[in-house]
Order: sequence, then structure tokens, then C-alpha cells
Amino acid sequence: MRKVEVSFGSKIGMIAAAAGSAVGLGNIWRFPSQTAGGGGAMFILLYLLCVLIVGIPLMISEFAVGRTALSNAGEAYKKLAPKTGWVWLGRFAVLGSFLLLGFYLVVCGWTLDYCWQSISGSLARVDDYTANFAALQNSVPRQFLTTFIFCFLTAVFILGGVTKGIEASAKVMMPFLFLLLIVLAIRSITLPGSLEGLVYLFKPKFEGVPKTVFLDAVGQCFFSLSLGMGCMITYGSYCKRDNNLTNTAISVSLLGALVGILAGIVIFPSAFSLAAPGENVTEALIKGGPGLLFITIPKLFNNMPLSMLWAAMFFIILALAALTSTISLMEVSTVYLHEQLGISRTVSTLIILGGMLILSGLCCLSPHIFNLSDFITAKVMLPLSGILTSLFVGWRMDRNLLLAELTNDNTLHRSKGFLKIFSFLLRWIIPTILLVVFIYGLFF
Ligand code: TRP
Repeated sequence: MRKVEVSFGSKIGMIAAAAGSAVGLGNIWRFPSQTAGGGGAMFILLYLLCVLIVGIPLMISEFAVGRTALSNAGEAYKKLAPKTGWVWLGRFAVLGSFLLLGFYLVVCGWTLDYCWQSISGSLARVDDYTANFAALQNSVPRQFLTTFIFCFLTAVFILGGVTKGIEASAKVMMPFLFLLLIVLAIRSITLPGSLEGLVYLFKPKFEGVPKTVFLDAVGQCFFSLSLGMGCMITYGSYCKRDNNLTNTAISVSLLGALVGILAGIVIFPSAFSLAAPGENVTEALIKGGPGLLFITIPKLFNNMPLSMLWAAMFFIILALAALTSTISLMEVSTVYLHEQLGISRTVSTLIILGGMLILSGLCCLSPHIFNLSDFITAKVMLPLSGILTSLFVGWRMDRNLLLAELTNDNTLHRSKGFLKIFSFLLRWIIPTILLVVFIYGLFF
């Protein structure tokens, strides 16, 4: 039970925190590659379409569930549908948010290690970037150190509380991240021969585009908007009643897409401009993932004057983006324990921190556990939770309560058409699309 009302202090604070959660490693290591491999501008349009029909309605729904229930994600469904099977949906999301931290924190640790390598200058002296990354992956002490630092760093902001920790940090980190990203994007497009990279990224292409491109776009939209794991329910519960939930969801989604596109503008033109003669970089770029971030990009930056500066900037951007995401993930289970067990926020933070150290430590030790944490959360729990959330808000949630959320207690006008489309998407379209994504993710 929530005893004292807690809320973000301002509308901007709410947008910054939610955008902080959304903008993360997913936007930087997957979005640009998927755009390049999925037909350039065509993928961007498809992605925006998914955001419109799946992402925004679900984000509004999660905000609405949180703000109506005014409780943590685990308790929210219990409040809205007491004594039904729905109560498990909230607990499922809380568990998911915790498990997702396992593999995510390890990658955050790698990012931190690379921040240090670029600042100390050692990254500029590397000869073999593949071996350099493999050395990190094979060194348990190095991974422990950086992953644990990241865990503690996340916990510091959670300890700071909702307004002074989460909101205040997002309000500083997000603009800073944008600023650095814009500087790096300008650097990238002013390199000689960068146009080719921009054309490669943005020109609509049809041949070679996989048939599953739409499913990839849905999966990406879902992960990168932080849906299905209680983050947006928790932040929704901190959202003041005069905040317009629809506009907040639209702003957060657009900011997320913008970061993805900017990351593409940083990565692709530099790749085309800086690749060694005869080197084929497109394959690595399209493949994306850790190889792109930790092998291809440092190697490319190294061909540039002042490489240390640009590489440091790039990895600081990554670390900031990742930090605001881990903060949102940690908040879900911390506030759950705090409210459900009636323990103080500090004790609850320390318990979750202990859990995170163990889980991420296991993921550092074993690539199997790392992959399992990724598979179970991203491929299984996320789509399942998304399907159930949209069915809940579409069919089960009290209409008057939902309407009060969408119209801010009848102070905003919402046309009948808007409400009909919103309901239709949640009842039929989103569950169907996510079911296909779920089955496809499990078997292919
Ligand atoms: N959206 C973040 C990213 O793109 C990761 C993330 C944070 C997330 N919270 C989440 C993903 C909740 C799924 C669910 O990296």
C-alpha cells in the first residue's frame, strides 16, 4: 500500500524520466542497424507505424493503470481487479523488470569499461579490436568490477527518491545526452564521404529486406519504449492528475525514435567515411549488437583525429542512456518491495541491489545465464505481458476510470472516434500483433 502520495514535480520531469527509461541501449545498438537492414526510410516509417498503433496506445494504457491505481506495478492490477487472476499480471511484470536487469547490466558494465578505455587513451592504442572485446568478455574480474559499479550507480539515484533522484537526474542527463549526440552527429556528417552513409541509411530500399521486417519493427518498438515490465505503470503512478497522458506518451515515443535516428546519423556516415580501403563494413553495421558497439565503432573512431575524444563521447552517451533505463527498471521492484513489505525505501533499495549484484554477477560468469536472461525477458515475458496488458485495459478495466484517465477527469476533450479506435486497437489489433511476434520469437 502506498501511504504517502509521491509524484514527479513537473510535466517535463515526467517526460524526461519516461524518455530516460525508453532511450537506452536498444535505441543505439539496434535501431540504426535495423533501419539499415530493413529498407532504410521504409523501416523508419514502419517503426513509426508500430509506435502509433502498438506503442502509444500501450504506453497510455500503462500510464493509466499506474495513475488510477496509484500504487506499484505489482499491486496495480490487484487494485483495479481484486480477487481475479489479473493480480498476477502485475507481479509478472515486476519479476520481468528484475530479470531483465541481469543481462542488461552486464552490457552497461562493458559500456563503462569502454568509457574508461577511451578516456585513459588505451582504446586508441589497440591493434586488434575483436581481441580487445574478447579479452573483456573473458575477464570475469573486469566485468564484475564495471557491472557492480553500474549497479551501485543505479542504486544511488534510486536512494535519492522519486523527485530528487529519478526526476532530477533525468532532467539533467537527458538534455546532456541529446547535446552530445548532436555534436557527434555533426562531426559524423562533416567527415569527407559521409553522404554515402546517409544515403545508405535513409534511402528506401526494397530488395534484400527480410519478410519479417514488420515483426522486427514491433519487437523493437516494444523493447525500446520500455513496455510490458511495469516501468511505465510505476512512472504513471508518479504522474500528476493534470498531466495529459496521451501527449506524454507521444512525446516519449518521438524522443525515443529521434535518439535512434540520431544514433544512425552518428554511426553510418562515419562508417562509410572512415572504413579502411576495401573494407566491407556494412555487414557488421547491419548485424548490430555488441559487435557493432564494441568492435566496429571503436575501430572506426580510431581512424579519426582526436579519436579519444569522440570515442569517449560515444561511450558516455551509451552509459547515460543505459543508466536512465536501469534506474527505471530498478525502481519497479524497489518500490514494490517498499510498499508491499512495508519496509523503508532504503532497505528495499539495498535488498534489490543485493539481488542485482547476484543476478548480474551470474550473467558475467556464464554466457548461458546471460542469454537466458535476454531470451526469457525480451522474447517471452515482454510480449506475453503486452498481450495481457492490452486485453486488460481493452476489456476488463472500468470504462469510467479509463475515461477519467484519458480526459483528465473530463477536462480534456476526446472525440468518440479517438476512444473507439483506442479501444479497438487494445481489444483486437495489439493482442493479435503481439501474439504473432511472440510465436515468431519463440520458434524462429
Ligand atoms: N527501453 C530501454 C532500451 O531501449 C530498455 C528498457 C528499460 C526496457 N525498461 C524496460 C525494455 C522495460 C523493456 C521493458 O534499452
